[in-house]
Amino acid sequence: MPPPGPKPITFSRLICIRRACQRAARGGRLAVHYLKPLRAGRSWRRCRFAVVIGCGSLFLQLVAWPRQVAGQTNLYDFRPAHNPDGIGKFYMGREIAQVMGHESAYWLERPQRVAEEQPDQMVGQLKLRRGEIVADIGAGTGYFSRRLARAVGPTGRVLAVDVQPEMLELLKNLGARLGLTNITPVLGSVTNPQLPVASVDLALLVDVYHEFDFPREMMQAICGAMKPGGRVVLVEYRGEDPAVPIKPLHKMTQAQVKKEMSLLPLDWVQTIELLPRQHIIVFKKCSTGRGGTAAPASLRQN
Ligand SMILES: C[S@@+](CC[C@H](N)C(=O)[O-])C[C@H]1O[C@@H](n2cnc3c(N)ncnc32)[C@H](O)[C@@H]1O
Repeated sequence: MPPPGPKPITFSRLICIRRACQRAARGGRLAVHYLKPLRAGRSWRRCRFAVVIGCGSLFLQLVAWPRQVAGQTNLYDFRPAHNPDGIGKFYMGREIAQVMGHESAYWLERPQRVAEEQPDQMVGQLKLRRGEIVADIGAGTGYFSRRLARAVGPTGRVLAVDVQPEMLELLKNLGARLGLTNITPVLGSVTNPQLPVASVDLALLVDVYHEFDFPREMMQAICGAMKPGGRVVLVEYRGEDPAVPIKPLHKMTQAQVKKEMSLLPLDWVQTIELLPRQHIIVFKKCSTGRGGTAAPASLRQN
């Protein structure tokens, strides 16, 4: 008999994780960044040792700070004073948000999401055709991959990319439950989605661009994976609207998105404002130069 493998992450385990997180939250602890309290009785000498090590490491980090900035070819800057929801790394004036960990995967499958985000309406707006190849970048549990898979049909394919293997495990299990066979999970890296060159008709990025650790490198690689004329669609919570109940670093303004995309071989096509909380911002891969030219009037909506 083969030795038992690791326990697969099933939907019921996901629910268990959710309940554990809720219990932890009720107990006043942070579920994900839970800090163990110091055991009483630890000797003063050990505490002193910890203080010396802590100060030493802080000193080394401060010394290394300017080198990190120089080593990043000036694309990014690092600021010690920053939003606790961010990583202290800034790109074009915007602080990059922390990645949502797989421990919070239940939030992506919450039933209220249908009313809050109207996912079917969103996918409908993409006007996908049967047989198309779609990349769902930062796919998470596959909430959109499953809808995209139905839209492109059995002759099409969804390349569901994520950097967390745990998310891809959930995505596989949830897709299999529905009998969807045209979703391919792809483990990407923080700089590259690992997609074949010029293979994708449409790349969808829902609620993920703002948490790319390397936005420029990721977007350059995504552009390389697009077919000529392929569409890149960013769906982000509206940063202009204080009524959208999402932490500021996890929202984006349309102006900031356009500014960051203007450096890439992408032309803005339209922004669709039909969802309750999110922008749908559509770009098209252009064949020459960096892109950033205005879309023809016939294609513009806003
Ligand atoms: C907030 S979740 C959104 C998931 C999904 N798009 C949805 O709306 O249900 C963001 C996901 O993006 C993934 N992610 C973050 N950085 C990434 C990167 N550079 N490449 C691919 N996935 C990434 C995270 O692991 C996480 O699963």
